[in-house]
Amino acid sequence: MLAPLLLLITGCRAFPSSTFVEAHARSSGFDSTAQYIDVTGAHRYVAPGPTDFRGPCPGLNALANHNFIPHNGTVALQNSIDASMQVFGMSPVVATAAGLLGALYAGNLADLSFPYSIGDTPPTTILGGLLGALGLFGPPQGLSHTHNQFESDSSATRGDAFQFNGNGYDLQMPAFVELYNRQNESSTANYDRDVIFAHRVQRLHDSKQQNGRFFYGPVQAVFSSLTNLLVYGLMSNHSTEYPDGILSNDLLKSLYGITGPNGAFVYERGTEQIPGGWYRRPIDNPYSATGVLTDLAALTLYSPETAVFGGNTGEPNTFAPLDISGFTQGTYTAASLLEGNNLACFLFQATQLLLPLGLVGLEGIALGLLDQLIAALGDILAGITCPELAGVDSSMLEQYPGYQDSSHPV
Ligand code: HEM
Ligand SMILES: *[C@@H]1O[C@H](CO)[C@@H](O)[C@H](O)[C@H]1NC(C)=O
Ligand SMILES: *[C@@H]1O[C@H](CO)[C@@H](O)[C@H](O)[C@H]1NC(C)=O
Ligand SMILES: *[C@@H]1O[C@H](CO)[C@@H](O)[C@H](O)[C@H]1NC(C)=O
Repeated sequence: MLAPLLLLITGCRAFPSSTFVEAHARSSGFDSTAQYIDVTGAHRYVAPGPTDFRGPCPGLNALANHNFIPHNGTVALQNSIDASMQVFGMSPVVATAAGLLGALYAGNLADLSFPYSIGDTPPTTILGGLLGALGLFGPPQGLSHTHNQFESDSSATRGDAFQFNGNGYDLQMPAFVELYNRQNESSTANYDRDVIFAHRVQRLHDSKQQNGRFFYGPVQAVFSSLTNLLVYGLMSNHSTEYPDGILSNDLLKSLYGITGPNGAFVYERGTEQIPGGWYRRPIDNPYSATGVLTDLAALTLYSPETAVFGGNTGEPNTFAPLDISGFTQGTYTAASLLEGNNLACFLFQATQLLLPLGLVGLEGIALGLLDQLIAALGDILAGITCPELAGVDSSMLEQYPGYQDSSHPV
């Protein structure tokens, strides 16, 4: 089953790395009509009720609160993809990959619209219907319970699951305050890429120092780095004056469900809100796979430590790097990962290989979703020349208690 995957990965063309830089630097322009997101009327903010699901993703929570996806927090796969693109300016490839991961790990695979809860595990009566509900790891678990599958440690504001009794989905105030205080209250505050890079590294250090079961495998590194990047990439407000966007203090608070003054912030789960007068990314410049790869490469230059995968071995401050050469069966070394496009190649190869391809019992349905996911991930890498990956030795991940103690496919 892996052979077609490897073909897909290695069948890529040469692609000058300068193209990434140009793509990022491209001025985007501003169109006030097209980029305006109307949050009145049908899309006015309505706080979630007690039976509405809300979870680790502030973007999906906000989309539900504004009725761009169902207010009850149970969303069909395609709806989550469309809303992420239309409201927040995720590119089709990135939104498709995210949505498929959500549906696959959190959703009901027995329903062909692939609904998933954006938060807690739904009672089987809700998602089940007559056919019964079927998830990858038993009953559909909801995004809040996808630890180390999608939801990962060292998130921008969410806690590490093993530090908070399984709660990796709520905002933890110290992490939010760390982020917030990087731009003290002022009219020029802007949580831009540099600010997010610094915060991302701080969160990595927090996990290493505080969570004995911190796990930072290649897949978890991609997901948590990516979701950190989404803060600046998707939440910023755009204008003629700032076509690349500004993420102000108040906007950050609103999109994270925070009220009150600094020092006495109040967080209410699931109350993420898009404020009135918010303008999304340019229509012709969504946050794309190229943008993601560019940013991940720049993050690695900024802090090579973000590309050192591994985990703590049971106690805080015991981070043990994964032996890349052994893990990739000689294809890469820790040093060669930092050359050319190798890091991007490895990350996406590993992501593809560590998907639950080995699972049985779901063949027809889950494999269809996996095919789509693999195609979407393949598109992300299209145009990059990658070394052929000999394989991955996933048993090497067993040395990390944070990996061992969570449901994982391999
Ligand atoms: C189908 C679409 C989406 C899915 C399935 C999804 C899923 C997730 C998941 C599972 C997490 C937790 C990851 C972690 O623990 O690090 C997350 C985090 C995040 N997502 Fe989404 N997401 C989607 C779309 C969006 C959109 C449209 C935005 C726009 C703002 C967004 C912004 C974020 C941010 C900023 C985080 C980091 C949260 C934090 O730790 O502060 N996501 N998402
Ligand atoms: C959630 O709301 C949508 C849209 O109103 C509806 O179609 C769906 O049946 C609801 N799902 C649940 C589980 O209540
Ligand atoms: C932020 O600025 C206020 C005054 O403008 C000051 O009182 C406060 O100490 C500053 N906080 C930080 C974290 O720099
Ligand atoms: C977005 O920027 C415009 C132009 O500066 C401004 O009028 C608007 O209030 C801003 N919106 C938010 C939510 O900050």
